[in-house]
Amino acid sequence: MAKKRTKYVCTSCGATSPRWLGKCPNCDAWESYVEEMVTSAEPSKARGARSGSTGVRVSTLEEVSVEETSRMATGINEFDRVLGGGVMPGSIVLVGGDPGVGKSTLMAQMCAGLRQMPVLYITGEESLRQVKLRATRIGGDTSNLRLMAETNLELIIDAIRRESPGVVIVDSIQTVYHPQIESAPGSVSQVRECTAMLMRLAKEEGPAVFVVGHVTKEGAIAGPKVMEHMVDTVLQFEGERTHLDRILRTTKNRYGSTNEIGVFEMGEKGLEEVANPSALFLSERSYGASGSAVAATMEGTRPILVETQALVTSTSYGVPQRSATGFDYKRLQMILAVIQKRMGLRLGEHDVFVNIAGGVRVDDPAVDLAVATAIVSSFRDIPVDSSTVLVGEIGLGGEIRGVAHVPLRVAEAAKLGFEGIVVPTVNLKKIGSNPKLNLVGAATVLEGVNAVL
Ligand code: TYD
Ligand code: MG
Repeated sequence: MAKKRTKYVCTSCGATSPRWLGKCPNCDAWESYVEEMVTSAEPSKARGARSGSTGVRVSTLEEVSVEETSRMATGINEFDRVLGGGVMPGSIVLVGGDPGVGKSTLMAQMCAGLRQMPVLYITGEESLRQVKLRATRIGGDTSNLRLMAETNLELIIDAIRRESPGVVIVDSIQTVYHPQIESAPGSVSQVRECTAMLMRLAKEEGPAVFVVGHVTKEGAIAGPKVMEHMVDTVLQFEGERTHLDRILRTTKNRYGSTNEIGVFEMGEKGLEEVANPSALFLSERSYGASGSAVAATMEGTRPILVETQALVTSTSYGVPQRSATGFDYKRLQMILAVIQKRMGLRLGEHDVFVNIAGGVRVDDPAVDLAVATAIVSSFRDIPVDSSTVLVGEIGLGGEIRGVAHVPLRVAEAAKLGFEGIVVPTVNLKKIGSNPKLNLVGAATVLEGVNAVL
């Protein structure tokens, strides 16, 4: 028998090295290398030999049939929208999140929603009894559900071939292993190879495969980024254990738009949909206090109103602090530089803290104007007009740049009972007026801020 050799694998990106490295040259992660066994017959290598044979078929575009594969609705609207309109047959979806956030609950509820579709639920973490107790707690019709407590991927794949279910759930990828790979379950090689095999199975046999994965403490899904590259859709389930609201976020989707979010609340009978997230995010808003402004952000295809908060205080000693929660730190620094230069605000001896309330993270530049307004409001200690929403991206010259989907944002503000909205002047020219809302155009950050302060 050959001598066992080991290699070092980056848990972040999957790069390998014969030696341990402190910093990954591929993805720049620190201390991400772990030792793993080298296996002579890695299934992915064996695949290469087979494809050298003559059986490979090449097709023209006309020969490819595109009979509209129909998506399966789960009946959970928030979940269907995040997936891009329901479960896509033959797709592989990674559901990531911290332990206890509700991944297994979401999967169980999906089963109950997919009433006519046979589902095979493979649990490697919990006993069949635990899965049953959860399903009973959630309620609903689960006669379509078949369970299996197994972690050996060879046996799992056999069972899937035999049962040919429409949907397969593997809970979780960290517990399954392929016997031909010598490293432990949860290691980079195991996770990568098992995902690759499940992916091939999904493409060949046609079931939709949901793979549950735990998030490492750094926030990456299941360690290797290679896994994110392989799957069709990556869903990230977020939320604090101490809070009941949960956000399901798409970070990748070959079958729909990314940045889509679904909002849920953990209740007595599983996850409940939050149909009006703007109301939830604005529910604890402080009226009449300085440093708070409402922005209309787009999360995927849906407009959502969020409260941006800022606190500006004089620095007691040393270098002024800047901190951003739920908002890009570099973008905050850019906005601070713009309001110093273009509005003459002296922030050099002030600490600035910015927070997007409700635990959401926004990447939409259209919230810039609200952030800038909240900062100026806190600095001057004047409250922002609480009945007005602000929308606009700030450019380096202090100009307000146009943003996409302004009519949707305006409609959301009107729906939530706001009386006015500040939008970029370029957008205002195109949309004209709205009977329910007072539309104000702003061409510069100074104009935008002055409209509400
Ligand atoms: P779970 O889905 O097991 O989380 P994960 O699979 O992500 O580790 O459940 C998460 C938590 O939710 C658990 O602490 C119990 C709680 N919970 C409820 O509050 N209500 C419910 O109806 C269910 C099923 C779970
Ligand atoms: Mg679980």
